[in-house]
Amino acid sequence: MYKTLDSYDFKGKKVLVRIDINSEVNKGKITFSERFTAPLVTIRELMQKKAKVVIIAHQGRPRSSDFTSLIQHSGLLKRFIPKLIFVDDIIGNKAVNAIKSLKEGNVLLLENLRFLKEELEPKKENKLVKILTPLFDYYVNDAFSVSHRVQTSITEFPKVLKSCVGRTMELELKNLSKLDIKNAVFILGGDKVEDVALLFNKKHILSAGVPALVCLLAKGVNLGAENERKSQITSEIKKEAKHIVTPVDLAANVNGKRQELKLSDLPSNYKILDIGSETIKQYCDIIKKSKSIFLKGTPGYSQITGFEKGTFNILKAIEQSKAFSVVAGGHSTTALTHFKINKKKIGYISLSGGALVHYVAGKKLPGLEVLK
Ligand code: 3PG
Repeated sequence: MYKTLDSYDFKGKKVLVRIDINSEVNKGKITFSERFTAPLVTIRELMQKKAKVVIIAHQGRPRSSDFTSLIQHSGLLKRFIPKLIFVDDIIGNKAVNAIKSLKEGNVLLLENLRFLKEELEPKKENKLVKILTPLFDYYVNDAFSVSHRVQTSITEFPKVLKSCVGRTMELELKNLSKLDIKNAVFILGGDKVEDVALLFNKKHILSAGVPALVCLLAKGVNLGAENERKSQITSEIKKEAKHIVTPVDLAANVNGKRQELKLSDLPSNYKILDIGSETIKQYCDIIKKSKSIFLKGTPGYSQITGFEKGTFNILKAIEQSKAFSVVAGGHSTTALTHFKINKKKIGYISLSGGALVHYVAGKKLPGLEVLK
């Protein structure tokens, strides 16, 4: 359905490659993650094919605290591609001259695309498209995780340049096609309800983390200290709460210690940081019988001592299951490493957030549609 790197002869050609290295920023420092290694396969293949490669990417959103230059990202990418050159420009003379003087097998990284208002206002005729297009022969989208956005670097270049998907995107699409979305069991956790909200209409949902608390509230349970989350009950949650499986017990943080509470022990004056032991058992039994599993967001605050149990056991059950599984979300993937889960036993570990949820929810991704 999509053209790939096999579809064209890239020798000596100028190739514009969109990747996603959007990262967490901690005290001004970019956090290294697999987002830096994932696109290497595409970049290296193009280098070997003697293409002239120009990478475009973004970091943060305008006015957010993580909205910053890609200079640190260039340092992290250089660890793997020593030849990489960074230019702190996108469509000015500096960038244009650097692109024009690229040699075969060389790689250039341009500045944060979102520094340009044109990136966020996609139009075929905008300056970003007008200036860059004549300088390139091909466009490669290797950023599945941004493909739910209607932004110039995602939706406009494929309209004017010969285009294809990169290897990372190809792998993501291949693996997602193995997930039986209709019949999968969805374990939805994490600490942001809005991150998984599009999936609340799925048939089999095991709620955990904050989504579980909000669903319990929607079902009329009086949680106590967590009742403030009532404001997060959306009309969608109200509509779907009935069929969403919610925990039968929880674990509260009582002065730094784990205290398990049955629903009949509620309300509680304490914050709830994990699902309880009986819920873990019930969820693990369901996982064992499932043929397709999707997990997004950790079932509990697994980084806090005493509250690892839910996340550890659920991930362990997925590891031991014969089902095809997809695990997604930054904290979940960190937890896989932390709990030494055998990653080879997980069907696919996705580095995508919102785009993945859109895709699994059955929504069309504009960045993919335009490549069809
Ligand atoms: C992500 O980190 O999920 C992608 O880079 C998309 O970022 P955005 O939500 O700011 O568009």
